[in-house]
Amino acid sequence: MAHDPIPELIARVYERHRDCDEGEVATYIPELCKADPDGFGICVVTADGRVYEVGDCDVPFTIQSISKPFVYGMALEDHGREEVLRRVGVEPTGEAFNSIVLDEATMRPFNPMVNAGAIATAALVGGASPPDRIARVLGRFGAAAGRELSIDQEVFASELATGHRNRAIAHLMLNFGMIPGDVDGILDLYFRQCSILVNCRDLATMAATLANVGTNPTTGQDVFRVDCVKDVLAVMFTCGMYDFSGEWAFRVGVPAKSGVAGGVLAVVNRQLGIGIWSPRLDARGNSVRGIRACVEIADELGLHAFDVMNYGSTFLRTLVRDP
Ligand code: DON
Repeated sequence: MAHDPIPELIARVYERHRDCDEGEVATYIPELCKADPDGFGICVVTADGRVYEVGDCDVPFTIQSISKPFVYGMALEDHGREEVLRRVGVEPTGEAFNSIVLDEATMRPFNPMVNAGAIATAALVGGASPPDRIARVLGRFGAAAGRELSIDQEVFASELATGHRNRAIAHLMLNFGMIPGDVDGILDLYFRQCSILVNCRDLATMAATLANVGTNPTTGQDVFRVDCVKDVLAVMFTCGMYDFSGEWAFRVGVPAKSGVAGGVLAVVNRQLGIGIWSPRLDARGNSVRGIRACVEIADELGLHAFDVMNYGSTFLRTLVRDP
């Protein structure tokens, strides 16, 4: 019977970083500064539905930019790849998540993981009305997490009141015909999708749903179309960690996405999903402990896509089969 290394590994990684107090909690959205800076949780959900967790895995926080890949998947389903590609590219920017920059040749935002691309993507979510569109997003995120989710109304109001930079980006894209005229409606959806409350377990389950090619492994529900999951993971791999994406691909080697409330979601294709929460961020807006924990988990389990052991691709088969 094979040894299951995950419980001991995540406990060890948690203990190693528990006392780290580097980084700062995000304050540019005023409501986010209420987060407990010491909060820290690590959860792993395998593509066959096992759940491992340590630390604060029940504490709710807003999903923020980790909403972006999932909404991108919905836009791909609603409009098809070519139509979505006309509105948002798939090139890394090497710039900050909130940079005000469009591709000069096409006037598209560079990719759906930075704010400009995510706002353009939100404009592509299908639905009869704005409430219908956010209901679809909430429903789909809930299906991926395996439970009903809700919006943090205080964070939403805080983003709405202070999101002038995002408003500027949206108007720039309106100017170039990349989004339709309803800027307020589009930003309303974008701010609401960022304000959806999740916990670490939700993040890991959503990641495992992507790892399990679109089917939630804990509920068995089909959530995302297989061809869209492939596109989502490819963009997460190259652009998910903003101007740290290249180094992330080098060091960790799996698709991932971070959010300014301190969440990190990582996907090991066909194997497992990782969800980490720790609100202190580095200068690029990525969770300090989240990144360190992911680097170590990926290293120790050999999860990097190009790991010489190629252990990542066979990981599940090596685990204990007994419940
Ligand atoms: O657009 C914003 O400012 C936020 N609602 C989302 C930003 C975010 O999470 C960036 N990630 N690190």
